[in-house]
Amino acid sequence: MSRHRLILALETSCDETAAAVVACDGGAIRVLGDAVITQDQVHATYGGVVPELASRAHLEKLTPAIRTAMERAGVAAQDLDAVAAGHRPGLIGSLLVGVSAAKAFAWSIQKPFLGVDHVQAHLAACHLGERPPAYPAVGLVASGGHTHVLSLQDPLHATLVARTRDDAAGEAFDKAASILGLGWPGGPHIERLAASGDPDALPLQAGRFAGSEDFSFSGLKTALLYAVRGVPQAPHRPPRPEPPSLDDARRADLCAAFQRAVVRSLERGVRSAVDRLRPRSLLAGGGVIRNGAVRAMLEQVAADSQVPLHLSAPAHCTDNAAMIGALAALRLQAGQADPLDLASEPLSLIARA
Ligand code: KG4
Ligand code: ZN
Repeated sequence: MSRHRLILALETSCDETAAAVVACDGGAIRVLGDAVITQDQVHATYGGVVPELASRAHLEKLTPAIRTAMERAGVAAQDLDAVAAGHRPGLIGSLLVGVSAAKAFAWSIQKPFLGVDHVQAHLAACHLGERPPAYPAVGLVASGGHTHVLSLQDPLHATLVARTRDDAAGEAFDKAASILGLGWPGGPHIERLAASGDPDALPLQAGRFAGSEDFSFSGLKTALLYAVRGVPQAPHRPPRPEPPSLDDARRADLCAAFQRAVVRSLERGVRSAVDRLRPRSLLAGGGVIRNGAVRAMLEQVAADSQVPLHLSAPAHCTDNAAMIGALAALRLQAGQADPLDLASEPLSLIARA
C-alpha cells in the first residue's frame, strides 16, 4: 500500500494567485489547506487581465498565499513530499512566478518538482470529490481562456476532441457583459440577470463548423453587440431600425438569450463526444462550470446518456491550486516528476488523437 503523501501546489497562470496543500494515499485526494488571492480588483478597471500587472501581483501575493495554505493545512516545509505548479498554458510572465517559486521550494527541501498542465488540472479537480471518476472519460473545460472537450484514456492521458476556434466561453461571457455595461468578470453578472430574462427575446446562436464539433463564440458576441448598438449602416441600403433601448428588462432578456446560446453550443460538443466515445464518466471544470445553466445542461446530458457525472465543486471551478495539486498527486502516484529546468509554456500541448 502506498503511503500518505503531501504536495504543495501553486497556481499563477493568469489572474489568481493560489496555493494549496493536498494529501494523497493512493485513493482519495484531499485538500488540507487552500488559498486563492484573486486579482479581480487589479484588472476590473481595464475590463480584462493586464499581463504585466498580473505578474507583479503574483510576485507580491504568492508568499502570503503559500503561508496561508500551509497554515490552514497545519504542515511545515519538511512535511512535504513534492512541490508542484501549473506550467502551461497561461500568461508566460505569470506562469514563471509560480513555476520558479515551486522549483526553488522543491530544491530547498530536496523533494521532487512537478509541472502540470492547467487545462488538464481543471478536470483533475473532479478527483477532489467523494468518489474518483472512472476512465476512459470525456471532459469539458470551459473557462476564461479555454473551451476544450477532451478524451481521457486515464487521468494522465488526454487528447483533444474539440476546442474553440476564437473566443473561449468565459471570454465570451466577459465580453458580452462589457457590451451590456455589466461588471467584470462577466459570467456571474450575466447568470444573475439571465434568471429574470426571456431567452426567446432574441434568436441568438453560437457559430458551428461543418464536419467539426469545434466551438466559435466571436460571432455570437458580434450579434449581441448589434442587438445593443444597432446593425451598422451599409452603403446603398435602406436605413436600419434603431435597436430597442437597453433598459433593465431588455438587458435581462439579452443575458438570457446569450447564456442559452453558449449553453446550447457547449451541449452540442459534449453530447457528440459522449455519443461517439461512450465514456465511463463525464467530467467538467473551469470557471464557466460554476454557471447553474451549464451544470443543469451537463446533468441532463449525463442522465440521457447514463454516464456518471463529476462536476468540479464551484470553489474548484475558477482557477485554484487544489486542482494543480490533484493532477500533481495523480502524476506522483504514477512515479512521475519533472526536472528543475522544465520550461513554462504559453500554449496547451494537448493535441488531437
Ligand atoms: O477558470 P477561470 O478562473 O480562468 C481561466 O482558466 O480562464 O475562469 C474564469 C472565467 C471568466 O471568464 C468568468 O466570467 C467565468 O469563468 N465565470 C462564469 C461564471 N463564473 C465565472 N461564466 C459563466 N457563469 C458563471 N457563473
Ligand atoms: Zn483556468
